[in-house]
Amino acid sequence: MPDDILYSIRNLTVEYKTRAGAVRAVDDVSLDIRRGEILGLVGESGCGKSTLGKALMRLHDGPASITGGELVFDGRNLMNLSLREMPDIRGAEIGMVFQDPMTSLNPVQRILDHLTETIQTHEPETSIATARTRADELVERLGIRHERLKEYPHQMSGGMRQRVMISLALALRAKLVIADEPTTSLDVIVEAKFLDLLKELQKEFGLTILLITHNIGVVAEVADRVAVMYAAKMVEVGTVQDVFADAKHPYTQGLLKSVPNIKLDSGDLYKMGGQPPSLLHPPSGCRFHPRCPFVMDICSVQEPAFEPVIGDHLASCWLYQKAVAEKTTGKQEIRHG
Ligand SMILES: Nc1ncnc2c1ncn2[C@@H]1O[C@H](COP(=O)(O)OP(=O)(O)O)[C@@H](O)[C@H]1O
Ligand SMILES: [Mg+2]
Repeated sequence: MPDDILYSIRNLTVEYKTRAGAVRAVDDVSLDIRRGEILGLVGESGCGKSTLGKALMRLHDGPASITGGELVFDGRNLMNLSLREMPDIRGAEIGMVFQDPMTSLNPVQRILDHLTETIQTHEPETSIATARTRADELVERLGIRHERLKEYPHQMSGGMRQRVMISLALALRAKLVIADEPTTSLDVIVEAKFLDLLKELQKEFGLTILLITHNIGVVAEVADRVAVMYAAKMVEVGTVQDVFADAKHPYTQGLLKSVPNIKLDSGDLYKMGGQPPSLLHPPSGCRFHPRCPFVMDICSVQEPAFEPVIGDHLASCWLYQKAVAEKTTGKQEIRHG
């Protein structure tokens, strides 16, 4: 594994067992998270982003399980660890910030005690005094006044609780922070501040951040690279510059056209046609084919490979694998839908 890759996810598959059958919410997904980057993970609601985020910590809800793949984090395959060893990785090496941190904070514990205790649990050799000082410094660095450390989670605003979660990750010197829709419940001003904070922490602490969001505009503001998911599949990955200037996958192109603050030639906001597919019975071939304006015959028959289009800009689309497409099914006509 090259040194600049912190987390290498290979062919990851996660399934929910439901009464109607197995739902693959993450299907054969491969992705590299590079050291020190902010990687934005985007896609419509229900496409599997949170399931992927939780799988990276082997943290699943009841019916979910990882049914295949490798999770190589900082040189170790986490799939080889027992579930009992995972709590040492969670928090200490990988921190997570959820949409509503209220559920991950203890309602009857003051913020300072929570921070101090967490540091001491992970580093028993650290004294209470040292742990307190460290908690204090971090929280202040994140813009929370010292006095507020005596408060309980419910006394804080959503934005402040988010910052407490980040300070927990930083207090333990986590290498990776996974933030799942961290700004979705915040108003735009608090959101902008939080995104600035992520950027600062990336620079100051060399923190690596996986930022999960349904809002591609948020990614444009802070991320270095972007990964786009559609119906449990990874469909495009590249730098923010490359993807925003020249999106390869028709789904990404549609996502970008539907963002209000990205300049358009026409005045109207684009609305992508069709509905996201059911993951219980996903479409054959490329899962986007029923909604794709460039659909070709092969698209409903065979799934395109997820591979480089140019350099390290990857996409899974037959438009860029035409030579193969033509060989497989004869002459292809691009139908514009
Ligand atoms: N607890 C669950 N039980 C069964 N299926 C689930 C459960 N949670 C999620 N799913 C399935 O996994 C898919 C992906 O969910 P999720 O990862 O939460 O998507 P996202 O975060 O992109 O909105 C959903 O569309 C749903 O089909
Ligand atoms: Mg989600």
